[in-house]
Amino acid sequence: MKLEQGQIAFVSGAGSGIGRALVLALTARGIRVAASDIRMEAAEETVAMAGPHAQAFCVDVSDPASMEAVADAVERDMGPLDLVFNNAGVAMHGKPIHELSLEEWDWVIGVNLYGVIHGIRAFVPRLLSREGATHIVNTGSVAGFQVNPDFLTGAYSATKSAVVALSEALELENRGSRMGVSVLAPAAVNTELHLSERARPERMGGAFVRSENHFLGPLIEIGTSPDAIAAQVLEAVEANRFYIMTHPETRGWLQRRFNRILNAYPEAAE
Ligand SMILES: NC(=O)c1ccc[n+]([C@@H]2O[C@H](COP(=O)([O-])OP(=O)(O)OC[C@H]3O[C@@H](n4cnc5c(N)ncnc54)[C@H](O)[C@@H]3O)[C@@H](O)[C@H]2O)c1
Repeated sequence: MKLEQGQIAFVSGAGSGIGRALVLALTARGIRVAASDIRMEAAEETVAMAGPHAQAFCVDVSDPASMEAVADAVERDMGPLDLVFNNAGVAMHGKPIHELSLEEWDWVIGVNLYGVIHGIRAFVPRLLSREGATHIVNTGSVAGFQVNPDFLTGAYSATKSAVVALSEALELENRGSRMGVSVLAPAAVNTELHLSERARPERMGGAFVRSENHFLGPLIEIGTSPDAIAAQVLEAVEANRFYIMTHPETRGWLQRRFNRILNAYPEAAE
């Protein structure tokens, strides 16, 4: 869809990293943005950087009532949405999956998977009801296509694989509609993902320290800038591209995984 001044967008996880960069890129194009985050002060900081086209909203994407409430509030305050970015997510790295507590599973599934499910339920009917073109982008990860062999990303990858599948379903189910769908699948991006724990919802125990994630800090610090990712996302929306693969070096990772699967067919072994 063509991005135009005056369109209205919703971004979750807008208080930091990729979400913040999306808000800045969208507002720079004259698009009005609902910048939402569970950390309201961080969303407000983004809005202060973005200027008058942005407005801050508080949301916990893992809570369906909170998502419905923010969808209502955004449309009441700003008008009907043209663009939705289900972007909020948390890390859950550094521990073998059999050692993760149920609380850790609930949190990572709650935000990364249910967050997208709640976003789809709250926003897709609204996007489909519009007369003009609309677009939804779900932030997955290259971890949605490949389990990183070094960083114990099992639970995170499980949620991101599900985000890829949900996005593929959303695209298939709405072919022929005016709503475009994309899934964003980056590798390392220079954000504050290693500090996800500061955003754990109160009803799941609130902010805490999860040092297992902290090794990610130096690894993503040398990653792509969030601004470059946001630029690629907006370009993909305009070109109506479904898969947004931002890191060329990950092609080989996926190739190896797909080859292994294809080689598992009996006829391949003959
Ligand atoms: N940084 C990377 O290397 C990388 C790579 C691939 C995918 N991603 C994905 O990109 C997305 C954005 O992450 P980021 O890297 O910008 O991290 P970030 O931690 O810098 O930003 C994420 C934002 O989401 C917010 N958030 C967390 N839980 C929330 C909740 N329950 N409700 C609402 N907001 C919540 C946080 O407060 C934070 O402001 C995530 O889905 C992440 O999994 C990141």
